[in-house]
Amino acid sequence: MWRRILLAALPAFCQSPHDAIPDVALGRRLFDSQCALCHGPGGAGGRGPSLNRPKLAKAADDAALTKVIREGLAPEMPGSWQLSVREVASVAAYVKSLGSVPVEKVPGDARRGESVYKSSGCAGCHIISGQGNGLGPELTLAGARRNAAHLRESVVNPAAYLPDGYLMVEAVTAEGLTVSGTRAAEDPFTIQIADPSGRFHSFRKSGLRALRKLEKRSGMPAFDKLPAGSLDDLVAYLASLRGN
Ligand code: HEC
Ligand code: HEC
Repeated sequence: MWRRILLAALPAFCQSPHDAIPDVALGRRLFDSQCALCHGPGGAGGRGPSLNRPKLAKAADDAALTKVIREGLAPEMPGSWQLSVREVASVAAYVKSLGSVPVEKVPGDARRGESVYKSSGCAGCHIISGQGNGLGPELTLAGARRNAAHLRESVVNPAAYLPDGYLMVEAVTAEGLTVSGTRAAEDPFTIQIADPSGRFHSFRKSGLRALRKLEKRSGMPAFDKLPAGSLDDLVAYLASLRGN
């Protein structure tokens, strides 16, 4: 009997408080392998609800979030009993980074950031409150759906994370012409590709010599040469887009 008690206590005993320090990168890897199946890559939603919301009804605080991850939500969401205390804490930290973080203090000036947005040509591919073109995702609620760090990464290194549904493809025509860009639409017989200049190309798949996905490539150029101050301002502007 003592053996059983000892064994039961052992895992908790071995986990010093230090082990419970969450690691967001680890949380993201665990999320990708165990949660994205239902909640979509980046928590964009799928079979399970989108987690890109500042307030989660069933996981309103840390304790509730930990409980949901550990025990699941019957009948559809399974519990994650296989995860250690630190792994649960890490997944929870990652889930919070997806949109449940309360409005963060971001450096930079949103008003100046709006001018950076306009002068950088962002509106050529994004819509904010009805203004712009929509090859890229709509950004009207960018600040409510994403945290500032994520928005910054999206601007500086767009390939690091592609929102659900965005895919880069490359088509080679029968004549040997190569067109690559963002997949704008696809059905079993045809595919439309938007090239980086925003031009649309339609192909009948049966007429193509090759059609492939480009992994880890983005349809958005990396804006990694912006002066630090302008980048802060731009991120502050994006973070301020919360539908108000
Ligand atoms: C098999 C599908 C499935 C898997 C896998 C899954 N979930 Fe869920 N999850 C759901 C469904 C469905 C709901 C909504 C349940 C409900 O509201 O009753 C949900 C709800 C949630 C909620 C509450 C959302 C809210 O708006 O209150 C959180 C947080 C959550 N899941 C996180 C996770 C995390 C983190 C993982 C991975 C460790 C995970 N889920 C794995 C299907 C899944
Ligand atoms: C040539 C088109 C193009 C231009 C120009 C462009 N983007 Fe994008 N952007 C995209 C596409 C496509 C995606 C989604 C796929 C990806 O990340 O590659 C995206 C994704 C994003 C995201 C992530 C959205 C999300 O839901 O995670 C943000 C934020 C963003 N862009 C901001 C900007 C800003 C700010 C600028 C200007 C500095 C800009 N973009 C310029 C095409 C573009």
